[in-house]
Amino acid sequence: MNGMRLPDELDAAIQDEVERADQRDLLRASGELTLRYKAAGSSGRAIDSDLHRAAYLLVRLPATYAACTHVFSEIRRLAPQAPLTSILDLGGGPGTAVFAAAEIFLSLSHARLMESSPAWMRMGQRLAAKSSHPLLTEAHWMQHDLRAEAAFPIHDLVVLSYSLGELPPATAEALVRRAWRSTSQFMVVIEPGTPRGFATILDARSALIANGAYIAAPCPHRDACPMAGTRDWCHFAERVERTSQHRRLKSGALGYEDEKFSYVIAARNEVRPAAARIVRHPKKLSRHVQLVLCTLHGIETQTVTRSSRDAYKLARRAEWGDAWLK
Ligand SMILES: C[S@@+](CC[C@H](N)C(=O)[O-])C[C@H]1O[C@@H](n2cnc3c(N)ncnc32)[C@H](O)[C@@H]1O
Repeated sequence: MNGMRLPDELDAAIQDEVERADQRDLLRASGELTLRYKAAGSSGRAIDSDLHRAAYLLVRLPATYAACTHVFSEIRRLAPQAPLTSILDLGGGPGTAVFAAAEIFLSLSHARLMESSPAWMRMGQRLAAKSSHPLLTEAHWMQHDLRAEAAFPIHDLVVLSYSLGELPPATAEALVRRAWRSTSQFMVVIEPGTPRGFATILDARSALIANGAYIAAPCPHRDACPMAGTRDWCHFAERVERTSQHRRLKSGALGYEDEKFSYVIAARNEVRPAAARIVRHPKKLSRHVQLVLCTLHGIETQTVTRSSRDAYKLARRAEWGDAWLK
């Protein structure tokens, strides 16, 4: 089954980057990164060698790109007319979020990326130089430690993609507040879809609500989260096609993987969130579809039978993570 693909020009730029590395070392470093993500639900510690950064481009970037694409598509669905012209990517790494945003929001004309690691910035700038999007070729990169207390410049869309969880929780809350103050329209936080990633998202959600944000997605409301304090955690998944180089390295391995992620989208102006959100793979049986939904009244299971024709047609096409009308 096919998954989300990187744009060809980004895939080619990544191949140029990784071809410099010894392929056996690269395979080992890719394995180490994957293990680290599986164990810790984040990179665990800074990615501090050229080899591990090259491995990130192969084994993590396609996945974080897919998660960004999923979340940005949700903003576009909720607010198709939102005139987003600027994006601020905090902890941008190789610029994944801006690459994804360039494909979704054609109105974007200004990108700023803040990143503490000069090596990540250089790698991101090399990738961006090969892009056909002026948003990337003319992006402003700033070396900046997100823990510093300085205010950020105001942007329409502010993104923390897989970066908030790398900071200690006390610093993370202050960062969310500062990021929100610099948001004129939407702020996005994305983390791995693990209990730890979800906990980071829940904390961010609470800080955003306490600072007056509307929650646009995935939640249908801004009341307490029904999964908080349970053994369950709110997360979604995107099927990701492996890059050509990734497949070459892992010959015989599956051509795709499933990236699980948790996220929150906060909005400056009131947007009408989904009435309900599908929070599990729908069970599509022969005469009915069973949906597990997050609703205004908590987690509910709804069975849609063939007798309710229009709803049944929609339910057959519905996917985990989609909005549902209730
Ligand atoms: C897991 S990578 C995510 C990169 C990119 N946002 C993505 O979605 O693929 C985390 C990034 O956050 C950056 N980062 C971590 N702590 C930081 C800090 N205190 N200040 C600035 N950047 C930081 C790291 O250098 C790294 O580039």
